[in-house]
Amino acid sequence: MMVTLKSISRAPMTPKANSRLSGFYDLTIQERLARVREQVGLTDDEIRILGEGMGLSLDRAGAMVENAVGLYALPLGIATNFVVNGRDVLVPMAIEEPSVIAGASLAARLGRQSGGFTAEADDPIMIGQIQLVDLQDPYAAIEAVLASKERLMALANALDPVLVDLGGGARGIQARILSTAKGPMLIVHLLVDVRDAMGANAVNTACERLAPELAALTGGTPYLRILSNLADHRLAHARVAIPEEVLAFEAFTGAQVAEGIELAWAFAAADPYRAATNNKGIMNGVDAVVLATGNDWRAVEAGAHAYAARSGQYTSLSTWRRDGAGMLVGDLELPLALGTVGGATRVHPTAQVALKIMGVRSAGELAQVVASVGLAQNLAALRALATEGIQKGHMALHARQVAMAAGALGPDIDRIAEAMIEGHTIRIDVARSMLNQ
Ligand code: MEV
Repeated sequence: MMVTLKSISRAPMTPKANSRLSGFYDLTIQERLARVREQVGLTDDEIRILGEGMGLSLDRAGAMVENAVGLYALPLGIATNFVVNGRDVLVPMAIEEPSVIAGASLAARLGRQSGGFTAEADDPIMIGQIQLVDLQDPYAAIEAVLASKERLMALANALDPVLVDLGGGARGIQARILSTAKGPMLIVHLLVDVRDAMGANAVNTACERLAPELAALTGGTPYLRILSNLADHRLAHARVAIPEEVLAFEAFTGAQVAEGIELAWAFAAADPYRAATNNKGIMNGVDAVVLATGNDWRAVEAGAHAYAARSGQYTSLSTWRRDGAGMLVGDLELPLALGTVGGATRVHPTAQVALKIMGVRSAGELAQVVASVGLAQNLAALRALATEGIQKGHMALHARQVAMAAGALGPDIDRIAEAMIEGHTIRIDVARSMLNQ
């Protein structure tokens, strides 16, 4: 896959933080919070929301979902070193897996040396689908729908004047006949520009409103009326170009690392078994930011994997190539249906603080950062896999988790983790017996 970066003009993101927070890793959590506060100007309340895990109250949780009985917490970390479209960005990531935030920060540091990531996001167009069956004349039905396109779009727009005032609204109607196991069906697509929302509510409401109109126009019976998570009109693209010498690592030259990464890409491009793992690594980064900002990561996952299979063969979402002039160039393209308004993004206080830390002002800017993090995450994984393997780096953090699982607290966590690494045996029974001693 060769990605063509589209030239879509977007206002530049607010210049604010310096994301090169050297030594951040070695600070205490309180010291890290102070550094982030100093960079992006967080208030006392915002610090409390992050620092004391007070983000979501039980009351609010109860209003968000049915049958709530509590909260489920995850670590929230900050990936450092990111430069996206010339702007330094601190990236909040919510994730339980060790090494992900460190990997993103490391790859962002490599990318930063040649200017960071360039990223673009398409206009936020979502697709709504309406399924109609039992058609007398499916082709006449298509014509009838297309002839009423303007009226149908006006009906959809009348439902959401606020969206239209903000510059969004219906952008098109498409219709096609689908052969299925239950006979031909008419599938109508409603395209809607949802601006800074994820868009599910606006699109689903419009589909439900148009269904009876479509039934009257076509004589068909409407069934499903729902958005598609394959948001392929709403793609985000990220690119990074890194001088090969910057990639030199331990005994490996930069050229060897670049070659290894290109071979890893070729493997993933040709083999769905590898592509699934490659894309999982990308989604480690993507999901962590999507989750931190209160967005629907299941929707993003579904869209990403469907997009990876669009040719009929599941393949890599990213490409890596040596350009012959000493640079390793990586591209990532995936659908990103993200919102900065509405849903949990608005309701969850931690999501609000996360957006503030990133300094993004629109869903498009958020998508640009998320795509850049996905590409960085992929680079970190491939660099390790193509050289020393991932276990060495992974094991240090894994050992801490095992020590905690065995019941270690405070300084015992690091002490036991280090002893297990030294002894080359990281197991819960070993951690328990060290703890007992
Ligand atoms: C682990 O969470 C992610 C990796 O498996 C990704 C990859 O193999 O590219 C390391």
